[in-house]
Amino acid sequence: MSQPAIDIDIDEIIERYPGSPEYLIFLLQDIQAAFNYVSPEALTLVCDHTGVPQSQAYAVTTFYQSFSLEPKGEHDLKVCLGTACHLKGAPRIVEDLERRLGVASGGTTEDLKYSLETVNCLGACALAPVMVVDEDYQPAVTAKKLNKLLKQMDQE
Ligand code: FES
Repeated sequence: MSQPAIDIDIDEIIERYPGSPEYLIFLLQDIQAAFNYVSPEALTLVCDHTGVPQSQAYAVTTFYQSFSLEPKGEHDLKVCLGTACHLKGAPRIVEDLERRLGVASGGTTEDLKYSLETVNCLGACALAPVMVVDEDYQPAVTAKKLNKLLKQMDQE
């Protein structure tokens, strides 16, 4: 996941689609991709353009996990806390990440570098403990592996 380009113009995105309700999702997807989240201002602009009521657009953004109403970090870290991962030490991974990043699970670091969350079973229990870093599955995570991953991302 890359940082949003600073010069992206929200109006340019809005103008990509005709002002009609069926383009709501396309607009929200493009805004999410460009800015890593859908701000309240962007949501208002989309609603004004498409004629979709704010409450309905808000419901759509909260229903689909691919949309975020909060600014997200450049790197998305998801740690599985399902049963298999829990038994193999996933809580320690979460604690370690929270301490090192200085952010609680569910939060984003102040520099917008990392977002951290926990999930329940990623469907890869045989590889426990598992985490997903920017959509890449990381199997059998250890403190050493975590170190390496964070070092790589810090250097980007
Ligand atoms: S419990 Fe973690 S992948 Fe299933």
